[in-house]
Amino acid sequence: MAIKAVTFLIFVYLLVEMPGISAMVPAVIVFGDSTVDPGNNNQISTVLKSNFAPYGRDYFGGQPTGRFSNGRIATDFISEAFGIKPAIPAYLDPKYDIKDFVTGVSFASAGTGYDNATSDVLSVIPFWKEMEYYKEYQSKLRGYLGNDKANQLLSESLHLLSIGTNDFLENYYTFPTRSSQYPVDKYEDFLIGIAGNFIRELYKLGARKVAISGLPPMGCLPLERTTNIMHGSACIEEYNNVAKDFNVKLQSTVDELNRELGGIRIVMPNPYDKLLEMIQNPSLFGFQNAETACCGTGFFEMSYLCDRMNPFTCSDANKYIFWDSFHPTEKTNFIMADHVVKTTLAVFR
Ligand SMILES: *[C@@H]1O[C@H](CO)[C@@H](O)[C@H](O)[C@H]1NC(C)=O
Repeated sequence: MAIKAVTFLIFVYLLVEMPGISAMVPAVIVFGDSTVDPGNNNQISTVLKSNFAPYGRDYFGGQPTGRFSNGRIATDFISEAFGIKPAIPAYLDPKYDIKDFVTGVSFASAGTGYDNATSDVLSVIPFWKEMEYYKEYQSKLRGYLGNDKANQLLSESLHLLSIGTNDFLENYYTFPTRSSQYPVDKYEDFLIGIAGNFIRELYKLGARKVAISGLPPMGCLPLERTTNIMHGSACIEEYNNVAKDFNVKLQSTVDELNRELGGIRIVMPNPYDKLLEMIQNPSLFGFQNAETACCGTGFFEMSYLCDRMNPFTCSDANKYIFWDSFHPTEKTNFIMADHVVKTTLAVFR
């Protein structure tokens, strides 16, 4: 009887203590663009912001945070699914400090890209600068936890990257600089070279679990469909083909890096097929609208144009795949996160 009681107590002790010290993934550390920016852009001077209504109207407390959605973004749901926390804070948000960042942090900046020329377009945080912030984070973490614990935490944490759409839509297909320098397949290679070097750098800094997202069917974003009005607002096939091509190349780079870097595990969540499936069969997922967005007229509004006074904004965002003309609703973010957690990211759970 006594032994049973002791065994039981040890069991309870383990249940209570385990998550803090030896969860498989103790933190999710995020790099990228608006798909995963929880509000870093609030702290910089750029016109690309979303820390005002109606953004965040379905977030905790109905608060706008700088997330480009009506609610949470995919990385929030991923963190929650890993049993960590329900929302990942922005590194630059003064409300948080290293105590909060121990269990996850995002360095992402809306509007940025792999290419330095992309972050220049809207004066947002360049990708290389996200790496600089990550190094600063590491040194704060060592100060807070001590070297050994910090190193262990870093090697067990999931480093998640979601970036690349803006390099094409905001940069390559909008301005002549890159498109006159590179045919699009060479530009893809240029970006993938940057992605590979970024992962090598993460590895040198101690990361061992990495997920780098492929590109979505970016020709189907409402803003792009709006420009395709001559073709009945269909998805722009050229952009979707670039995304597919990019994803094939990124996957082979991921395979190479897994061979090159001993002890690392890199996976590539690919949002392309799932999101396209949703866009082609919205009702299967409970959506009523896949072509235009909830905010405003749904054709072009985002950031400051997505304004709370806009009388056209929909009342139930759950009926829409897209919240603004460039970003998914919380419901879409949840479905995508749930999908990758159960597939590509399952190796880390
Ligand atoms: C981007 O800019 C940074 C800082 O100037 C520089 O170190 C880096 O090499 C640049 N990246 C590329 C791919 O040119």
